[in-house]
This record gives sequence, structure tokens and C-alpha cells, in this order.
Amino acid sequence: MKLSATRKILVTGHAGFIGFHAAQEFLRRGWNVVGVDSFCDYYDVALKRDRAARLEADKPSGARLATRKLDICDLEGLRETFAEEAPDIVLHLAAQPGVRYSITHPFVYQKTNVEGFLNILECCRHAAKVPKLVFASSSSVYGGNTKMPFEESDQVDTPISLYAATKKANELMAHTYAHLYKMQAIGLRFFTVYGPWYRPDMALSLFADAMLAGRPIKVFNHGDMLRDFTFIDDIVDGIVRVVEAANLPLYDIFNIGNHRSEKLLDVINVLAESLGVEPKMEMLPMQAGDVYATYASVEKLHKAVGYEPKTTIREGIPVFAKWHRKYYERTCRE
Ligand SMILES: NC(=O)c1ccc[n+]([C@@H]2O[C@H](COP(=O)([O-])OP(=O)(O)OC[C@H]3O[C@@H](n4cnc5c(N)ncnc54)[C@H](O)[C@@H]3O)[C@@H](O)[C@H]2O)c1
Repeated sequence: MKLSATRKILVTGHAGFIGFHAAQEFLRRGWNVVGVDSFCDYYDVALKRDRAARLEADKPSGARLATRKLDICDLEGLRETFAEEAPDIVLHLAAQPGVRYSITHPFVYQKTNVEGFLNILECCRHAAKVPKLVFASSSSVYGGNTKMPFEESDQVDTPISLYAATKKANELMAHTYAHLYKMQAIGLRFFTVYGPWYRPDMALSLFADAMLAGRPIKVFNHGDMLRDFTFIDDIVDGIVRVVEAANLPLYDIFNIGNHRSEKLLDVINVLAESLGVEPKMEMLPMQAGDVYATYASVEKLHKAVGYEPKTTIREGIPVFAKWHRKYYERTCRE
């Protein structure tokens, strides 16, 4: 369904990995896009600037893209943005991500993921035209659950990282606002997303860097881990379906994954093949905060909006590897 160009979506975290791709797709589909991002330095800001520049350069002619450098913890700035832009939809992706970083930097999670999230809820609630809110949660809320695949009806009261706890808090806060103020809030639990313009702090990127430099890669839990790796195009497809769906309840939570749980060693081998290198591995024990396996049931999202992930790791990893090699060769030469 292509919506009229008068529809406006505010994407928080538009310079981030998922936000960039989502914003690009909404521009292609004729939406007016407003991007909000603080360009925080959790990882290389140059990559965020490059994504933002690409978004601007690739936008279809006539498309409207407005971007603001703004911290979501700046409530006044956020209020002004909501008042001036009056979005129909808020796609809230800005967050402090990363499980391991939350062990060493807990306060930034409280600030951005809890206080910042509350600011988003408040701005939605008080908007003259209350927007539909679609926000990023995470597979990490399933903690150490062992029943597979993970279903939305499973208990998620035992997070094992502060990052996961803040994402679970977001789901609870959104439920409260939907209940109290009748504003629509839909949470999406993303499962290990990868693809071009990927985050440099994530496993595939760290592996690719090490492999290309001939260094051993750090393989935690001796490679005995399972991950549901989801290609970015499938994630964006799911986001678009949820944003454009008119039949969703006031509040709901959906998994958005690939419904294939891959052995970490298989993933490493496909990546090495795609880069044309022989991987060297340093086997290490499990890291604090990490979970053994993730595996998404996507049945609920399929029933609600027809979501059907298509990309296997054999198809998606070579696309990521090609981008990674090209991007970092170019940026190293400059
Ligand atoms: N990538 C994944 O595999 C994955 C998995 C589960 C959940 N998520 C969630 O999806 C969302 C997007 O993740 P991503 O991988 O694109 O991460 P990302 O770090 O690439 O993007 C997040 C963006 O938010 C911005 N940001 C951070 N703090 C901000 C603040 N206080 N104010 C304004 N902007 C701020 C950052 O500058 C960044 O550009 C996040 O909410 C993340 O927790 C991602």
C-alpha cells in the first residue's frame, strides 16, 4: 500500500543502522520523513554522518526529509519538534544499544532508554494530533529463556542485562500510556539485525575486521551459541507493514526476526567464505550478559500483517561482507 505524500513519519535514530534503512524506505514510499538523532559517539560518528549524508543524497526527487540533531533527553527540544512537525507516526529507534556496554556504562541506558523513552511517550501523549508510536524493543528481553522459539506470550520477567531491562521497561511504559491515554503503541522485538551500513560494535563487523586484518576472532562460549540473524531488508519490511497497518490494537508487542536460529560457527564460516579468508579463532568462555540462544517465532507478526522474512544467512552475509569491505577500504584511503 502506498500512502499519500502528506503522511509524515518522525524517525528517531535516523543516523543509526536500522533508522537509516527505515527512513530510506519511507522516503521511497512517498512519506515525509523527519529524522531526529543526537549523533552520540557510542561508535564512530563518521559512519552516522555518512548514513545521514546518503539518506539526503539518495532521497527521491520531491521527497521531503527534515533532520534535526537532537538528544531525546532534551524534552524542550523534543516538544518543539513534535509541535512544529506534527507527525502521524513516530518510529522510535534511538536508544543506547549493546548488551556488553550496559555492564560498564549503566547510567547512559537509564538516561536514553528510560528517560528518553518517557520523553517520547509524553510528547506523543500531548501532541495536538496524537501519533501512532512504533518503538524498538529487543530479543534480549527473553533473557536466559530456554523454551524455543521465543513467543510473545512467554514470560520475560528475568532480563540478564541492564540493556534488556530498559527494553522491557519500555514495553511496560508503553502499555501504561496506551491504557491511560488511549494512544497506540506497538513494540517490535528485533532479533540480531545485520546488513549494509551495519553497526561496528556488533559481532559480524568485529569478525569481519579481524578476519580482514588476519587477526584471530574472539569466539565466546567456544562457539556454542545460536542466533536468529535477521537481514535488514526483512526488518524494514516488517516495520513498514506495522507502520502502515490500520488493524492493530492500541498496544501490542511483536517479535521481528528471521525464524532461523543459526550456529555461530556456521555464521563465521559463511562470513569467512564471503570475504575469501581462512578464519582464525580464539575460543573464549561466555561473556556476562550474553544469552546462549535466540530464536524468534514470527507467527504473531505474520498473522497480524503478513510478515514473512526471506533472507537466509547464505544470501544476506555476502551482501553485508561486500558492503563492509568496500566501505572500510574507502574510508581508510581517505
Ligand atoms: N541492531 C540490532 O540487532 C538490534 C537488536 C535489538 C534491538 N535493537 C534496537 O533497535 C534500535 C536501533 O538500533 P540500531 O542497531 O540501529 O542502533 P544504532 O546505534 O545504530 O542507532 C541508534 C541511533 O540512536 C541515536 N541515539 C542514541 N542515543 C540518542 C539520544 N539520547 N537522542 C537521540 N538519538 C540518540 C544514535 O546516535 C544512533 O544513530 C535501538 O533501539 C536498539 O536498541 C537493535
